[in-house]
Amino acid sequence: MQINSNYANLQESYLFLTIAKKVAAYTQAHPNHNIIRMGIGDVTQPLVPAVIEAMHKATDEMAHKETFHGYSPDQGYDFLREAIQDYYAKRGVSLKLSEIFIGDGAKSDIGNIVDIFSDDNCVLIPDPVYPVYVDTNVMAGRKVSYLNANEQNGFLGMPDESVKADIIYLCSPNNPTGAVYNKEQLKAWVDYALKNDAVILFDAAYESFIVGDELPHSIFEIEGAKRCAIEFCSFSKTAGFTGVRCGYTVIADELTCGDTKLNTLWARRQATKFNGVNYITQRAAAAVFSEEGQKQVKSVIEYYRANAKLMVDAFREMGVWFTGGENSPYIWHKVPDGMTSWEFFDYLLNEAEVVGTPGSGFGKNGEGFFRLTAFGTYEKTKEAMERLKKLLK
Ligand SMILES: Cc1ncc(COP(=O)(O)O)c(C=O)c1O
Repeated sequence: MQINSNYANLQESYLFLTIAKKVAAYTQAHPNHNIIRMGIGDVTQPLVPAVIEAMHKATDEMAHKETFHGYSPDQGYDFLREAIQDYYAKRGVSLKLSEIFIGDGAKSDIGNIVDIFSDDNCVLIPDPVYPVYVDTNVMAGRKVSYLNANEQNGFLGMPDESVKADIIYLCSPNNPTGAVYNKEQLKAWVDYALKNDAVILFDAAYESFIVGDELPHSIFEIEGAKRCAIEFCSFSKTAGFTGVRCGYTVIADELTCGDTKLNTLWARRQATKFNGVNYITQRAAAAVFSEEGQKQVKSVIEYYRANAKLMVDAFREMGVWFTGGENSPYIWHKVPDGMTSWEFFDYLLNEAEVVGTPGSGFGKNGEGFFRLTAFGTYEKTKEAMERLKKLLK
């Protein structure tokens, strides 16, 4: 037997483990103190009533022979794919049902999509970044180069004709930086991909945090994107499904390599290695798109957005450089001069009893930056911002 030796090239991920250890040690030393956690990107608000109702109803259906459901269709039930199709149509994007794939969340699909590409491709990944993009390519032994996102470009890296890339990862609104590409910027990426025969893997997991129609929610709002992009989306942050697990991936028929449709390859890959998302969850996901469901999930997003606004206002008042917050649940801010991200982590924990995530954990360009999330309660976010203002103003 031989193991996949590429696993030895993975960087150990100490980030959240180290944070947990440091917070545990602090809590043990200060048992009755009120620590405010703004580090983890998980949601905290419960599923909305329309979703719960759909889950109950679907569960009852599973209890009767006449309405019981076994294996789901490979690409997901039509009722959910039609709801997604309508959702895109509202933004002027027309999709065929066969271009929509239901999966168990964006992480799995983003991780598994690499199966359909040769290991010889050059991969371009932004730094800082959601670590899954890097690790899944390192596991396959692919050559990765990095796209610098930094203060100068507002953490939105742009194409460079001198860099060869076959597979490009973009995430907008971005985790960890909260930065969002506008239509012109995405158009530049689409043009680059079309010119260079590259594919863009577009992670839209946070699209529902975008306000208004000015900024693109989907890369398919950009002319030509169907010929060069795959889009990944998720119910996790849109509707609190982090523990339920459901997402979707869109591959248009126009996306080809030679005569081969990537849609056909992904359909084959999924039919071979994946057995679908359960009926109850797909009913729950479809309920997100009902009139009531949309109202309810939007009001939860508004709740998180109100937290983000408290954070944006506080950082403006403090005069600290930051990105995100306005169309994203993340604030990515600069740490005080002379401190590393980890030094700031310790400083914030010890002096303000607030926990965040050191930017250096997301890549070398994250050094000197820090991520705070808006997924907590309004009261705690408010209190945390008061503490930060006392410390940093
Ligand atoms: C950028 C980004 N993409 C994808 C995911 C994973 O989403 P899911 O819960 O659908 O797997 C996350 C989760 O935090 C994320 O931050």
